[in-house]
Amino acid sequence: MKIIVITSQKGGSGKTTLAAHLAVEAERSGDAPAWLIDTDEQGTLSQWHERREQDTPQRAEMPFARLADGLANMAERGAAYCFIDTAPTISAQSAALVNLADLVLIPVRPSPADLWAVSETVALVKNAGKPFLFVITQAKPQATITAQTVAALSQHGRVAQSFITDRVPYAGAMTGGRTAPELSPKSAAAEEVAGLWENVKSCFHEKIKSSKKVKHG
Ligand SMILES: Nc1ncnc2c1ncn2[C@@H]1O[C@H](COP(=O)(O)OP(=O)(O)O)[C@@H](O)[C@H]1O
Ligand SMILES: [Mg+2]
Repeated sequence: MKIIVITSQKGGSGKTTLAAHLAVEAERSGDAPAWLIDTDEQGTLSQWHERREQDTPQRAEMPFARLADGLANMAERGAAYCFIDTAPTISAQSAALVNLADLVLIPVRPSPADLWAVSETVALVKNAGKPFLFVITQAKPQATITAQTVAALSQHGRVAQSFITDRVPYAGAMTGGRTAPELSPKSAAAEEVAGLWENVKSCFHEKIKSSKKVKHG
């Protein structure tokens, strides 16, 4: 099982939206079973999940102290991916969550304020020595600021090629316990979420390749 922790110290950067959309996308593309864990006290992801009529992705609830055991149990029961949504704060808890990750996703809105705030998150993840991927969220199409944000983030690490654009259906679908691609499977939103899931999965393939190289070299 791969554990994907979605973190960013900036509230509203799109963590919860990303967690829900990627977990549903994993299920939709046959990379199942996908699980969700909401570690944010605000409970937005849990509320979304409660509104959902579909059985998948499943959501696990466990006290923070039992998370490591709970994840091990989930893996034993055959889970393929577990997405962990987090609170927008730096704390002992956020550091512990990052330590559990196989991959950390850092959503960033293309704005100066979001860019300035990202260094704290990057420091946390780099200190833990975890692989990470920046995900551009709520991007305005063709905005210069998006290209500038990608250029600035590239100095720190890898940026997912597929951007999540600012589109009403992302928020609208969440209200009804669904995701944008579920509402419109042929939409541009569906295309970018599918592209992003491929980008995320490729991080694992590359890690396997590079670790194999080390082993044989
Ligand atoms: N791609 C998007 N397009 C439009 N609205 C979005 C998008 N991503 C998130 N939102 C909206 O922005 C707000 C913050 O997103 P959310 O995922 O809750 O961020 P976080 O979990 O980081 O605080 C929510 O109201 C959400 O519906
Ligand atoms: Mg959230």
